[in-house]
Amino acid sequence: MTSSKGLRSQYDDVWLMDGVRTPFADYNTVLGLVSPTDLGIKVAREVFRRTAVSPAAVDIVVAGSMAQASFDAYLLARHIGIYSGVPVEVPAHLVQRVCGTGMEAILAAADSIKLGKAALGLVVGTESMSRNPVAAYTHRGGFRMGQVEFKDFLWESLLDTCPNVTMGTSSETLAKQYKVSREDADHFAAQSFDRAIAAQKSCFLSGEIVPLVSEPFELPGYHARGIRLPKKVESFGQDSHVRPSPIAVLAKLPPSFGGVQTAGNSSGIVDGAAATLVASGPFLREHSHPPLAKVVAGAVVGVPPEIMGIGPVPAIRAVLEAGGLRLDQIDRFEINEAFAAQTLACQRELQLDPSKLNVNGGAIAIGHPLAATGVRLAITLARELKRLGGRYGISSACIGGGQGIALLVENASAQ
Ligand SMILES: CC(C)(COP(=O)(O)OP(=O)(O)OC[C@H]1O[C@@H](n2cnc3c(N)ncnc32)[C@H](O)[C@@H]1OP(=O)(O)O)[C@@H](O)C(=O)NCCC(=O)NCCS
Repeated sequence: MTSSKGLRSQYDDVWLMDGVRTPFADYNTVLGLVSPTDLGIKVAREVFRRTAVSPAAVDIVVAGSMAQASFDAYLLARHIGIYSGVPVEVPAHLVQRVCGTGMEAILAAADSIKLGKAALGLVVGTESMSRNPVAAYTHRGGFRMGQVEFKDFLWESLLDTCPNVTMGTSSETLAKQYKVSREDADHFAAQSFDRAIAAQKSCFLSGEIVPLVSEPFELPGYHARGIRLPKKVESFGQDSHVRPSPIAVLAKLPPSFGGVQTAGNSSGIVDGAAATLVASGPFLREHSHPPLAKVVAGAVVGVPPEIMGIGPVPAIRAVLEAGGLRLDQIDRFEINEAFAAQTLACQRELQLDPSKLNVNGGAIAIGHPLAATGVRLAITLARELKRLGGRYGISSACIGGGQGIALLVENASAQ
């Protein structure tokens, strides 16, 4: 599958300066009551601390969050900017490309830099899956007997009403098309957990994580806000969905969507946030902080909604075209593991070497906080390229509604 349509962009001198994320928490647990705005403020403050870049240098704030997870959710991007120290004169906006939101936010900042509108962008993807509201859309005028509409937004939003297919069912369709068996899916999931456990043990994952504690975010003249963890939880520092998951255990879990997908081989539902600073070359060279990676190209394409999970295939082909590279020149791939069968379908279609794909585990083990995922994938990929001494990497995600997005980065120190 390739696409002549879609958006492709290429960048000559745009950089990811650094990146950081919160640990991801199983939904309804330790971060269950924390606003995604506060998770976003935390990672934004931390990326400024790690780079020693002043928030006063930021020209644009781009943030993403899917769920309307607080009453002030419309203002999420603005509040993340202001409470992380970005001057009030600097504009902020939200982007939304469903599971591709984090990568879209990076591309939006990169585009602004390429166009000469900005030299430094603060990019944040943040999601509270827990605080997806229980919502109703039809009661502004009151209730009619027996016609109360309140529904669980988290559950309902995983159904695409266009083809009338849930995200999980779309993966089952790909499982049939690409002959992914239950054993294949469980094997892939067990490997994701194993790799994430190894990446925790080697401290690779902790390198991109800022531990959370209860803390206020104060701002003179404005309302104080902050993170409050549950009583008796002093700090939270490690992804909680990661756990030993041998195939024999995974094999016993019941199907969640009538086929090969289960709770063990689908992406974990978690809360979390991630941030990165996207900088122009001149800005980067004025600062002593070594860059995380060069942004080479981006692409986003559409695919049939009923097989939304295949989106990374044409997106990766498009981003290679935009960057002028071949698949065999790519040292590492991060494809979001929305579902095992979906990721395996992409791997089979692209004939990707499994030893280059999601080598530190993926969303099956670590979890998939929708808007934060794209930023996490980009950060993890860039850090892995550095660790490996590899040159090029691609991160990609499938997107509910039927799209795929991909980001091509280069490890500057491997040139
Ligand atoms: C698949 C899915 C429906 C499962 O939801 P769930 O049933 O609420 O999942 P739970 O976490 O409660 O897990 C169910 C059971 O499996 C067990 N389980 C989950 N992962 C496991 C693992 N790795 N090893 C062992 N057991 C595991 C749980 O312990 C639980 O056991 P219990 O019933 O005895 O308590 C949900 O995770 C999902 O929809 N994921 C995909 C989200 C999505 O679509 N994102 C967007 C992508 S486009």
